[in-house]
Amino acid sequence: MALVWSCKAFDALSAAELYQSLQLRSEVFVLEQQCVYLDPDGLDLQAWHLMGRDDDRLLAYLRLLPPGLKADEPVIGRVVTTPAARGSGLGRQLLSQALVECEKLWPGRALFLSAQAHLQSFYGGLGFVPVSGQYVEDGIAHVDMRRPGT
Ligand SMILES: CC(C)(COP(=O)(O)OP(=O)(O)OC[C@H]1O[C@@H](n2cnc3c(N)ncnc32)[C@H](O)[C@@H]1OP(=O)(O)O)[C@@H](O)C(=O)NCCC(=O)NCCS
Repeated sequence: MALVWSCKAFDALSAAELYQSLQLRSEVFVLEQQCVYLDPDGLDLQAWHLMGRDDDRLLAYLRLLPPGLKADEPVIGRVVTTPAARGSGLGRQLLSQALVECEKLWPGRALFLSAQAHLQSFYGGLGFVPVSGQYVEDGIAHVDMRRPGT
């Protein structure tokens, strides 16, 4: 799938981009995963927002938190693809694009993410290694993972 990728600071997002991002996040993390939590947690204002679009549709999204905000390392979070596009390699494409953007923003830095436990091998295939045991957050099993810097 040939998507157009963009990575923008909060202030550079259009109102439509912000709306679509929050809509996709709620659709998946709140409704699909049946998890009542405050998705717009305040960190978005300092985050970079990576979007993969097909015309005016947002198909893939994640956010990048700068180092020192949630962890010492930059943090990848809110990793999501639209349900209709799952299993087509889009998730892998999204993460690969995130690694490119992180290298531009924070060259050579290690990266951190909190993975849903069943996705450990997905992130492992992209160089992330577990750095914690499993723990439950918002009712879902997670494991912390770190990708060493260069
Ligand atoms: C996780 C997610 C982004 C992956 O996107 P995708 O477009 O389905 O991913 P891909 O088609 O590129 O598949 C990537 C790999 O992840 C694996 N994978 C995807 N979803 C999975 C799941 N629910 N359980 C186990 N493995 C899964 C695939 O099997 C694939 O592995 P392979 O390459 O060895 O076959 C997507 O499933 C999603 O949005 N899930 C809901 C939100 C979520 O849980 N986000 C992660 C928060 S940590």
